[in-house]
Amino acid sequence: MNRPEDRLRSILDVGELQAIARRLGAEIRRDYPEGVVLVALLKGSVCFVADLVRELPGVCEIDFLALSAYRDGLTRVRVVKDLDLDITDRDVVIVLDIVDTGLTLSYLLRLMGLRGARSVAACALLDRQNRRLLPVEIRYVGRAISDEHVLGYGLDHEERYRNLPSVVVANGKDVVSDPAAVFEELFSL
Ligand code: IMP
Ligand code: MG
Repeated sequence: MNRPEDRLRSILDVGELQAIARRLGAEIRRDYPEGVVLVALLKGSVCFVADLVRELPGVCEIDFLALSAYRDGLTRVRVVKDLDLDITDRDVVIVLDIVDTGLTLSYLLRLMGLRGARSVAACALLDRQNRRLLPVEIRYVGRAISDEHVLGYGLDHEERYRNLPSVVVANGKDVVSDPAAVFEELFSL
């Protein structure tokens, strides 16, 4: 069996993730001095939005939205957990873990418009442009990547690995078959 460090390669460590939240938080603060509603998409964005929101003292509200899972865009997307806040005439920033095909973000941009938001922008921790099917504008980007599949800091593979403290790229099938062992080896204190 390969060593875990051969199977998982960290692309964003704890310090880099902190720096991204700080940088994007400063940009959002500058762009919305009168306040903003962060709409975070569950579940992938939970770690990112938790860090981001702490960079926005006093100027931000937060809400969550969940969509039904879809596979390769073949199934119709629907809202399974809706917003609690009324976003009519509010400035909204959608917070995402990663923009891949762009299908999710373009759906959310349209949805926020239908809900009457005054303005809508997107903030994504990761941007994988080479997979894009729909053109979407992301105003705040943490890091552009080209890797196949990433895990950790909210991002999952079949609901696992969200609790890794850094973002890693998985190499090989054994990673996804034995996450507990990999986690233990890489991150146990
Ligand atoms: P999109 O609609 O194709 O842009 O995909 C967006 C969603 O797919 C993200 O919000 C993620 O939850 C998920 N996703 C896409 N790529 C990855 C990945 O590499 N790891 C984990 N989740 C991913
Ligand atoms: Mg997922």
